[in-house]
Amino acid sequence: MNGRFITFEGTEGCGKSTHIKLLAERLVALGHKVKTLREPGGTPLGEEIRHLLKHASAGRDMTPETELFLMNASRAQLIRDVIRPALDAGEIVLCDRFFDSTTAYQGYGRQLDLNMVRRVVDLAVGPLRPHLTLLLQVPTALSEARCANRKRHQAEPDRFEESDRDFFKRVEHGFATIAAAEPERVRVIDSSKPLEIVSSEILRCAEQLLRR
Ligand code: TMP
Repeated sequence: MNGRFITFEGTEGCGKSTHIKLLAERLVALGHKVKTLREPGGTPLGEEIRHLLKHASAGRDMTPETELFLMNASRAQLIRDVIRPALDAGEIVLCDRFFDSTTAYQGYGRQLDLNMVRRVVDLAVGPLRPHLTLLLQVPTALSEARCANRKRHQAEPDRFEESDRDFFKRVEHGFATIAAAEPERVRVIDSSKPLEIVSSEILRCAEQLLRR
Protein backbone atom coordinates (compact mmCIF):
# COMPACT_ATOMS: atom_id res chain seq x y z
CA MET A 1 0.00 0.00 0.00
CA ASN A 2 1.80 3.14 -1.22
CA GLY A 3 -1.01 5.67 -0.99
CA ARG A 4 -2.14 7.91 1.84
CA PHE A 5 -5.52 7.69 3.54
CA ILE A 6 -6.88 10.92 5.09
CA THR A 7 -10.27 11.05 6.79
CA PHE A 8 -12.34 14.08 7.80
CA GLU A 9 -14.61 13.99 10.84
CA GLY A 10 -16.86 16.31 12.79
CA THR A 11 -20.46 17.08 13.67
CA GLU A 12 -23.04 18.42 11.22
CA GLY A 13 -22.15 21.80 9.68
CA CYS A 14 -18.45 21.63 10.62
CA GLY A 15 -17.36 22.52 7.07
CA LYS A 16 -15.99 19.12 6.01
CA SER A 17 -17.33 19.14 2.45
CA THR A 18 -15.91 22.58 1.68
CA HIS A 19 -12.49 21.74 3.08
CA ILE A 20 -12.25 18.34 1.42
CA LYS A 21 -12.94 19.99 -1.92
CA LEU A 22 -10.32 22.70 -1.29
CA LEU A 23 -7.68 20.20 -0.15
CA ALA A 24 -8.36 17.92 -3.14
CA GLU A 25 -7.92 20.87 -5.53
CA ARG A 26 -4.66 21.89 -3.89
CA LEU A 27 -3.22 18.37 -3.85
CA VAL A 28 -4.13 17.86 -7.51
CA ALA A 29 -2.44 21.18 -8.35
CA LEU A 30 0.69 19.84 -6.61
CA GLY A 31 0.63 16.83 -8.96
CA HIS A 32 -0.97 14.18 -6.74
CA LYS A 33 -3.60 11.68 -7.80
CA VAL A 34 -6.52 12.20 -5.42
CA LYS A 35 -9.74 10.28 -4.81
CA THR A 36 -12.54 11.98 -2.84
CA LEU A 37 -15.14 9.74 -1.17
CA ARG A 38 -17.91 9.96 1.37
CA GLU A 39 -19.42 7.68 3.99
CA PRO A 40 -21.96 6.29 4.08
CA GLY A 41 -21.84 5.97 0.28
CA GLY A 42 -19.07 6.09 -2.30
CA THR A 43 -20.18 2.97 -4.24
CA PRO A 44 -23.51 2.36 -6.03
CA LEU A 45 -24.53 -0.01 -3.21
CA GLY A 46 -23.25 2.38 -0.55
CA GLU A 47 -25.25 5.28 -2.02
CA GLU A 48 -28.44 3.17 -1.79
CA ILE A 49 -27.60 2.41 1.84
CA ARG A 50 -26.97 6.12 2.43
CA HIS A 51 -30.44 6.92 1.16
CA LEU A 52 -31.95 4.31 3.50
CA LEU A 53 -30.00 5.70 6.44
CA LYS A 54 -30.71 9.36 5.86
CA HIS A 55 -33.87 9.92 3.87
CA ALA A 56 -36.04 6.85 3.13
CA SER A 57 -39.36 6.63 4.95
CA ALA A 58 -38.59 2.90 5.48
CA GLY A 59 -35.66 3.98 7.67
CA ARG A 60 -37.66 6.25 9.97
CA ASP A 61 -37.89 3.83 12.90
CA MET A 62 -34.59 2.06 12.35
CA THR A 63 -32.99 0.69 15.52
CA PRO A 64 -29.48 1.85 16.54
CA GLU A 65 -28.20 -1.70 15.86
CA THR A 66 -29.58 -1.63 12.30
CA GLU A 67 -27.95 1.78 11.82
CA LEU A 68 -24.62 0.35 13.02
CA PHE A 69 -24.79 -2.56 10.56
CA LEU A 70 -25.88 -0.43 7.61
CA MET A 71 -23.06 2.08 8.17
CA ASN A 72 -20.60 -0.78 8.22
CA ALA A 73 -22.15 -2.60 5.26
CA SER A 74 -21.58 0.52 3.18
CA ARG A 75 -18.03 0.79 4.59
CA ALA A 76 -17.13 -2.86 3.89
CA GLN A 77 -18.05 -2.39 0.23
CA LEU A 78 -16.26 0.97 -0.12
CA ILE A 79 -13.01 -0.34 1.36
CA ARG A 80 -12.83 -3.41 -0.87
CA ASP A 81 -14.12 -1.83 -4.09
CA VAL A 82 -12.47 1.58 -3.92
CA ILE A 83 -10.24 2.50 -0.97
CA ARG A 84 -7.83 -0.44 -0.97
CA PRO A 85 -7.33 -0.47 -4.77
CA ALA A 86 -6.72 3.31 -4.77
CA LEU A 87 -4.19 3.07 -1.93
CA ASP A 88 -2.48 0.14 -3.66
CA ALA A 89 -2.18 2.33 -6.76
CA GLY A 90 -0.46 5.05 -4.69
CA GLU A 91 -3.34 7.54 -4.66
CA ILE A 92 -4.30 9.95 -1.88
CA VAL A 93 -7.76 9.01 -0.61
CA LEU A 94 -9.77 11.75 1.10
CA CYS A 95 -12.82 10.37 2.87
CA ASP A 96 -15.68 12.44 4.28
CA ARG A 97 -16.19 10.45 7.53
CA PHE A 98 -14.90 6.96 8.41
CA PHE A 99 -14.95 4.69 11.46
CA ASP A 100 -14.58 7.49 14.01
CA SER A 101 -18.09 8.63 12.99
CA THR A 102 -19.40 5.21 13.97
CA THR A 103 -17.78 5.43 17.39
CA ALA A 104 -19.06 8.99 17.87
CA TYR A 105 -22.60 8.60 16.46
CA GLN A 106 -23.57 4.97 17.12
CA GLY A 107 -21.35 4.52 20.19
CA TYR A 108 -21.55 7.84 22.04
CA GLY A 109 -24.62 9.33 20.30
CA ARG A 110 -26.93 6.30 20.20
CA GLN A 111 -25.24 4.88 23.31
CA LEU A 112 -24.53 1.42 21.92
CA ASP A 113 -21.92 -0.59 23.81
CA LEU A 114 -18.52 0.69 22.62
CA ASN A 115 -16.94 -2.78 22.54
CA MET A 116 -19.76 -4.11 20.41
CA VAL A 117 -19.38 -1.13 18.05
CA ARG A 118 -15.64 -1.82 17.80
CA ARG A 119 -16.23 -5.48 16.92
CA VAL A 120 -18.62 -4.61 14.08
CA VAL A 121 -16.24 -1.93 12.78
CA ASP A 122 -13.30 -4.38 12.92
CA LEU A 123 -15.25 -6.86 10.82
CA ALA A 124 -15.98 -4.22 8.16
CA VAL A 125 -12.56 -2.55 8.16
CA GLY A 126 -9.97 -5.24 8.90
CA PRO A 127 -6.48 -3.82 9.52
CA LEU A 128 -6.94 -0.61 7.48
CA ARG A 129 -6.37 2.63 9.45
CA PRO A 130 -6.33 6.25 8.26
CA HIS A 131 -2.82 7.75 8.18
CA LEU A 132 -4.33 11.07 9.26
CA THR A 133 -7.72 12.15 10.58
CA LEU A 134 -8.73 15.81 10.60
CA LEU A 135 -11.40 16.51 13.20
CA LEU A 136 -13.12 19.79 12.33
CA GLN A 137 -14.65 21.38 15.41
CA VAL A 138 -17.19 24.21 15.53
CA PRO A 139 -19.15 25.54 18.52
CA THR A 140 -22.56 23.85 18.92
CA ALA A 141 -24.41 27.09 18.17
CA LEU A 142 -22.65 27.45 14.79
CA SER A 143 -23.29 23.80 13.92
CA GLU A 144 -26.99 24.24 14.76
CA ALA A 145 -27.27 27.45 12.74
CA ARG A 146 -25.63 25.83 9.68
CA CYS A 147 -27.92 22.79 10.05
CA ALA A 148 -31.04 24.95 10.27
CA ASN A 149 -29.96 26.83 7.16
CA ARG A 150 -29.29 23.57 5.27
CA LYS A 151 -32.70 22.19 6.28
CA ARG A 152 -34.41 25.18 4.66
CA HIS A 153 -32.84 24.29 1.28
CA GLN A 154 -33.23 20.50 1.50
CA ALA A 155 -35.75 18.64 -0.68
CA GLU A 156 -35.87 15.60 1.66
CA PRO A 157 -35.70 15.51 5.48
CA ASP A 158 -32.46 14.09 6.96
CA ARG A 159 -32.99 11.63 9.84
CA PHE A 160 -29.71 12.58 11.56
CA GLU A 161 -30.25 16.33 11.35
CA GLU A 162 -33.56 15.85 13.14
CA SER A 163 -31.83 14.44 16.25
CA ASP A 164 -31.98 16.50 19.43
CA ARG A 165 -29.30 18.69 21.03
CA ASP A 166 -28.37 16.07 23.67
CA PHE A 167 -27.58 13.58 20.91
CA PHE A 168 -25.22 16.04 19.20
CA LYS A 169 -23.60 16.94 22.52
CA ARG A 170 -22.83 13.24 23.08
CA VAL A 171 -21.46 12.96 19.51
CA GLU A 172 -19.20 16.00 20.10
CA HIS A 173 -17.96 14.47 23.34
CA GLY A 174 -17.33 11.19 21.48
CA PHE A 175 -15.15 12.90 18.87
CA ALA A 176 -13.22 14.81 21.55
CA THR A 177 -12.58 11.55 23.42
CA ILE A 178 -11.29 9.83 20.26
CA ALA A 179 -8.98 12.79 19.52
CA ALA A 180 -7.59 12.76 23.06
CA ALA A 181 -6.93 9.00 22.88
CA GLU A 182 -5.12 9.13 19.52
CA PRO A 183 -3.34 12.50 19.21
CA GLU A 184 -0.82 11.14 16.67
CA ARG A 185 -3.49 10.20 14.14
CA VAL A 186 -6.24 12.72 14.92
CA ARG A 187 -5.55 16.45 14.44
CA VAL A 188 -8.15 18.81 15.86
CA ILE A 189 -8.87 21.82 13.64
CA ASP A 190 -10.82 24.87 14.84
CA SER A 191 -13.19 25.20 11.89
CA SER A 192 -14.85 28.36 13.22
CA LYS A 193 -11.78 30.37 12.06
CA PRO A 194 -11.86 32.11 8.64
CA LEU A 195 -11.94 29.71 5.69
CA GLU A 196 -8.45 30.56 4.39
CA ILE A 197 -6.83 29.98 7.79
CA VAL A 198 -8.58 26.63 8.25
CA SER A 199 -7.75 25.45 4.73
CA SER A 200 -4.06 26.41 5.13
CA GLU A 201 -3.86 24.51 8.39
CA ILE A 202 -5.41 21.45 6.73
CA LEU A 203 -2.98 21.67 3.80
CA ARG A 204 -0.07 21.93 6.25
CA CYS A 205 -1.19 18.75 8.06
CA ALA A 206 -1.56 16.89 4.74
CA GLU A 207 1.87 18.05 3.52
CA GLN A 208 3.46 16.90 6.78
CA LEU A 209 1.95 13.47 6.23
CA LEU A 210 3.13 13.33 2.61
CA ARG A 211 6.69 14.16 3.65
CA ARG A 212 6.78 11.26 6.15
P1 TMP B 1 -23.15 13.74 6.00
O1 TMP B 1 -22.58 13.12 4.77
O2 TMP B 1 -24.01 14.92 5.71
O3 TMP B 1 -22.14 14.00 7.05
O4 TMP B 1 -24.22 12.67 6.57
C1 TMP B 1 -23.86 11.44 7.05
C2 TMP B 1 -24.60 11.22 8.34
O5 TMP B 1 -24.38 9.88 8.80
C3 TMP B 1 -24.14 12.15 9.46
O6 TMP B 1 -25.27 12.60 10.18
C4 TMP B 1 -23.32 11.25 10.36
C5 TMP B 1 -23.89 9.89 10.12
N1 TMP B 1 -22.93 8.78 10.27
C6 TMP B 1 -23.06 7.91 11.35
O7 TMP B 1 -23.96 8.08 12.17
N2 TMP B 1 -22.19 6.88 11.48
C7 TMP B 1 -21.18 6.63 10.57
O8 TMP B 1 -20.41 5.68 10.71
C8 TMP B 1 -21.07 7.54 9.45
C9 TMP B 1 -20.01 7.30 8.42
C10 TMP B 1 -21.96 8.59 9.34
